[in-house]
Amino acid sequence: MIVNIWGTSVDEYVEVAKRLDGVKGVSGLELNVSCPNVKRGGHTFGQNPRTLARLVAAVRAATRAPILPKLAPNVPDIKVFVRAAQEAGADAISLINTIPAMAIDIERRRPVLANKSGGLSGLGIHPVAVKLVWDAAEAATVPLLAMGGVFGPEQAVELLAAGATAVAVGTANFIDPSTAPRVIDGIAAYMERHGMKRVRDIPLAR
Ligand SMILES: Cc1cc2nc3c(=O)[nH]c(=O)nc-3n(C[C@H](O)[C@H](O)[C@H](O)COP(=O)(O)O)c2cc1C
Repeated sequence: MIVNIWGTSVDEYVEVAKRLDGVKGVSGLELNVSCPNVKRGGHTFGQNPRTLARLVAAVRAATRAPILPKLAPNVPDIKVFVRAAQEAGADAISLINTIPAMAIDIERRRPVLANKSGGLSGLGIHPVAVKLVWDAAEAATVPLLAMGGVFGPEQAVELLAAGATAVAVGTANFIDPSTAPRVIDGIAAYMERHGMKRVRDIPLAR
């Protein structure tokens, strides 16, 4: 079980990481760095490589569990964040989180979401995830856990082909909770069709 954690300051992340350290069944901590604000400076952790590195290093020192920062998709160059995270001690990297988005009800003349805007997930963001995983893989020396619009084995294989080591399913679970086992079976069928023995054989040659 990989636990996704969040805080409004480095200290809060560190406190949560400490409380989860050594807890039975917790095999990793995924750091959600895509929304919170730091105490000073006003940058979100996932939008500034130096702030991200400071956070990862602090959590690294607070736990023995593997840590996976989950990178924000809306950055100019994902490779900068990949390098910052891994140099600070990340054991793997998760990507992508939702993409900031907004919908407006034009008849009621107000934003659809009470929060005005929110995070876009699902099939629509899948090509964005493929591109970011492809770019991230160029800089990554640690495994990449990829997500973003995986609704079936096709999208999972695509993310693996782009360079991911493993794939996660988010939104599709709300629609069909049997998505994950279906994806696993579909990856196995794809590998058989293509004469592949290991998932490691799926990434494209560059
Ligand atoms: C309802 C909802 C809640 C989410 N909550 C979190 C969260 O607490 N922490 C986090 O890192 N990502 C969160 N995400 C992002 C997802 O984990 C995932 O990165 C993103 O939705 C892309 O994958 P998907 O298209 O398979 O959902 C959430 C997404 C949705 C739709």
